[in-house]
Amino acid sequence: MKNILVTGGAGFIGSNFVKYMLNEHSEYRIVNIDALTYAGNLENLADVKEGTNYRFVKCDIRDSATVEKIFAEENIDTVVNFAAESHVDRSIVDPQAFLTTNVLGTQVLLDAAKKFWKLNPDDKYDRSFREGVKYLQVSTDEVYGALGKTGMFTETTPLSPNSPYSSSKASADLFVRAYHETFGLPVNITRCSNNYGPYQFPEKLIPLMLNNCIKGKPLPVYGDGLQIRDWLHVSDHCKGIYTVLEKGRVGEVYNIGGNNEKANIEIVKLIIKAAGASEELITYVKDRPGHDRRYAIDNTKITTELGWAPEYTFEQGIAETVKWYLDNQEWTEHIISGDYANYYDKMYKNA
Ligand code: NAD
Ligand code: TYD
Repeated sequence: MKNILVTGGAGFIGSNFVKYMLNEHSEYRIVNIDALTYAGNLENLADVKEGTNYRFVKCDIRDSATVEKIFAEENIDTVVNFAAESHVDRSIVDPQAFLTTNVLGTQVLLDAAKKFWKLNPDDKYDRSFREGVKYLQVSTDEVYGALGKTGMFTETTPLSPNSPYSSSKASADLFVRAYHETFGLPVNITRCSNNYGPYQFPEKLIPLMLNNCIKGKPLPVYGDGLQIRDWLHVSDHCKGIYTVLEKGRVGEVYNIGGNNEKANIEIVKLIIKAAGASEELITYVKDRPGHDRRYAIDNTKITTELGWAPEYTFEQGIAETVKWYLDNQEWTEHIISGDYANYYDKMYKNA
């Protein structure tokens, strides 16, 4: 059995990944560490049971002592680092949390991996590592900056991040690269486009608009609403990460994109229709400072080299997602009321 450390596994993509792995790839034991910030919600994992294949530990990735203790106790041989501050708007208000979690936290994980996996940890010239180990950094297309009307991001597009969020993710990517180049740590970096699907925190575009439609509240569209994002269903993303874990060439970066470019206003109108709301709710508001105009991912490398391809069409994915949020309004309500933050105490108080 392989022992995989998933960080940030109580968040949107991480919790989907934990469930995907437990359902589809039982050869892995998952140790999920998460600091349970405002974005971490154990209700996302309510149907996952602690046992031979799964353990949850409340832990901040910046806490090197606890991270090292977990590496030792669990004989960790794989890391998938999802843990991050992930919301661009918050990074504009408070950049520091992005620097400490996204950059310093990544460096703590890289150091632990180096310490536990390096065959001769005291020899700085020796680049040999244990057989079968891998560190995978979950990154974003936002590190490439913004596109004009044409073109797509490939893995060789120069990094040109514009927000404090994307700058912190780009910095983390450079540390991952450096640990590979300098020490020989076996790594991959994946850079995906905007994810959508169940369990996304309702501060991001799709769940926010849907919740406001349900409540009959105004739908705040930034600027002219013509900014373009390239949408990827979270389940396709999880399969892409697994594919890179299993087959990705060590040291390589892989873009993961769904070939679904849509302007924000198109998404908002689709959600209004699906939720049976009125377009009169659309409210154009002041634009986000430094708002990236367009993202688009060229996924040729992962599709041709590793055989991964997105399975969801956007039409199918968005219909399922809207239905999930409509059927699970209690989940959103717990977040909005703050109840979800007490879930850990309820579940783990006697553990
Ligand atoms: P999220 O905000 O929903 O979840 C982040 C999780 O990390 C939360 O559970 C939070 O509690 C945890 N966390 C935050 N700081 C921590 C710390 N210091 N120590 C331990 N845990 C901590 O984010 P998400 O949307 O699931 O994104 C996951 C990863 O994917 C991030 O690295 C993000 O940059 C990347 N990504 C996301 C998208 C997207 O569209 N959501 C797109 C590209 C890349
Ligand atoms: P978001 O979900 O925050 O993801 P990101 O900024 O990482 O792409 O936003 C997606 C797009 O939607 C982005 O162009 C900003 C826009 N947006 C709005 O127009 N209104 C909103 O209330 C939010 C949250 C986002």
